[in-house]
Amino acid sequence: MKNILLLLLIAFSADVFAQGSDPNMGIIPAPVSVKKDKGEFKLTPETIIFCDSPDTRAVHFLTDYLKKEGFVFSVTDISLVDKKQRNLKNSIMLAYNFKGTLPPEGYELQVNADHITLNGKNAGMFYGIQSLIQLIHKSNSPGFATIPCGIIKDYPRFAYRGMHLDVARHFFDVNFIKKYLDVMAAYKLNSFHWHLTDDQGWRIQIMKYPKLTDIGSQRAQTKIGKVHGADSDLYDNTPYGGYYTREMIQEVVNYAYNRYINIIPEIEMPGHSLAAIAAYPEMSCDPAKAYKVGETWGVSKDVFCPSDATFKMLNEILYEVMELFPGKYIHIGGDECPKDAWKKSDFCRQLIVDQGVRDENGLQSYFIGRIEKFVNSQGRSIIGWDEILEGGLAPNATVMSWRGEAGGIAAAQLNHDVIMTPGSGGLYFDHAQSKSSQEPLNIGSYAPLYKTYNYDPVPASLTKDQQQHIIGVQANMWTEYMSTPAKVEYMLLPRMLALAEVAWTPQSGKNYKNFSEERIPHHLTRLDAQGYNYRVPVPVGAMDTTVTGDKFNIDLKPSVEGAGIFYTLDGYPPRETDLQYTEPIKFSIPAGKHIDFQAIEITPSGKRSIVSDIKMDNRGSK
Ligand code: ACM
Repeated sequence: MKNILLLLLIAFSADVFAQGSDPNMGIIPAPVSVKKDKGEFKLTPETIIFCDSPDTRAVHFLTDYLKKEGFVFSVTDISLVDKKQRNLKNSIMLAYNFKGTLPPEGYELQVNADHITLNGKNAGMFYGIQSLIQLIHKSNSPGFATIPCGIIKDYPRFAYRGMHLDVARHFFDVNFIKKYLDVMAAYKLNSFHWHLTDDQGWRIQIMKYPKLTDIGSQRAQTKIGKVHGADSDLYDNTPYGGYYTREMIQEVVNYAYNRYINIIPEIEMPGHSLAAIAAYPEMSCDPAKAYKVGETWGVSKDVFCPSDATFKMLNEILYEVMELFPGKYIHIGGDECPKDAWKKSDFCRQLIVDQGVRDENGLQSYFIGRIEKFVNSQGRSIIGWDEILEGGLAPNATVMSWRGEAGGIAAAQLNHDVIMTPGSGGLYFDHAQSKSSQEPLNIGSYAPLYKTYNYDPVPASLTKDQQQHIIGVQANMWTEYMSTPAKVEYMLLPRMLALAEVAWTPQSGKNYKNFSEERIPHHLTRLDAQGYNYRVPVPVGAMDTTVTGDKFNIDLKPSVEGAGIFYTLDGYPPRETDLQYTEPIKFSIPAGKHIDFQAIEITPSGKRSIVSDIKMDNRGSK
């Protein structure tokens, strides 16, 4: 009975939100404040863009975007137009030098029927432009569009809004990295955590140590399927490799800069360092051992040795990394460092005595502390995964809390900055998006859209002062089981849109129903048109469930605008040749019988959801 009520509730509420009722005007992430007005601004070939700072990244972004989308317009520096001659009719005014103040990265956007005003500084202007772009409804005539009237006041909840990508397990070329940055910027994420090194590959050119890429970027083969699967000894017998040259990195850094994204490069140490050790065995505690770049997944026991020689090399490597990446943060990893090699090492045993530390955890802390000192000496700061708390936290480190929130809470209590990224909060995008066996191969665990969406990065157990140390939130994309860009996009979208709302929107402004049913369908259509792959959610109102009783009303709505829903009642998986759902269907199930309502959603571009199965059962309780 409970299930029937749930189903009816879903069916009913799907109707309540008709088109145009969305209080957020379709914008993701939901703005802080939206006041909708009647009417719309018409973008035509006569539209003028006035600005007071024409040669800025944000203004270039908007004009490049409009040109690419086929709009015709002119751009005029408002300071060159006499005050008396100014006619703002059919214009968009981009004002950096507006009167008044806004919170950091904030903007104010006012759309009237005859003109638009956008106030914002730097990133604020850029984010106002992203909202404006989302409001543009293209018409059927090329070069014409409408923008609904309203007033938006907006600024982010967190300063750090991050998305990570592991390019060590699988390598993704510069074009894909740019595409990844594009979608991050569109949703107001501002921190790209680039996981550049790991056991299975070193992906950044270092001039002083060429073997890091000559040897460390190549592996002989790659594990097929799950590490712990039935065929755990199967490999593809195919050499795999790739790395970014300094020029490529500079190109990506510039591209990100133009989108107000800071890149946080990660150089893993002391663990997850097998690729580097395969290139330079002298960085390990047992240089005589034969090493090869990792071919399987998991955690390697071969790790950097905390020797002076290793620190000298790492400092030189980090020096080159800092030459390429201008941002404040350098991520030095610090996670999952087995201590086996250190326990076997006479050198490490002596180092424990010399440093007066208790054990190998103390050496881990010594390692991170020494690296932090060097990074700080160059005017930068380190971020590390929460294991850097073990054995004592380096004095200025920012902690990325991934094993739940405990590390982040402990770090904030010690007055350290924290970025929350717990797998338990739905922020590991290598986890499956549903419990269905139809999901593609993934690392395991479960992070459905609503779980990501409902995550709140600020633990209630912290005091108000300690909460200020939660500087942001990030989702992680580990790519052991993602060997193609299309698969990464499938795992990214739409979950990244939920992350964006977690990172930007005040907790009080979040509403999963509005997000998933009213805004997501339109955004997935837009992303489709931009060439992104994504996971097609099952239709709104569809789910894997068993409902008992004799009367049912199936009421569904596409989760992607314009998509078709097809269904079967015969127990076979539905496809486009089956019955198309067009309106709510009433079922009466005879006593003793059951019917499976299986549905699939297929988008105009041919993307398919998994099959959902509502089992309507009138066989009596068993
Ligand atoms: C991690 O997932 N090992 C940070």
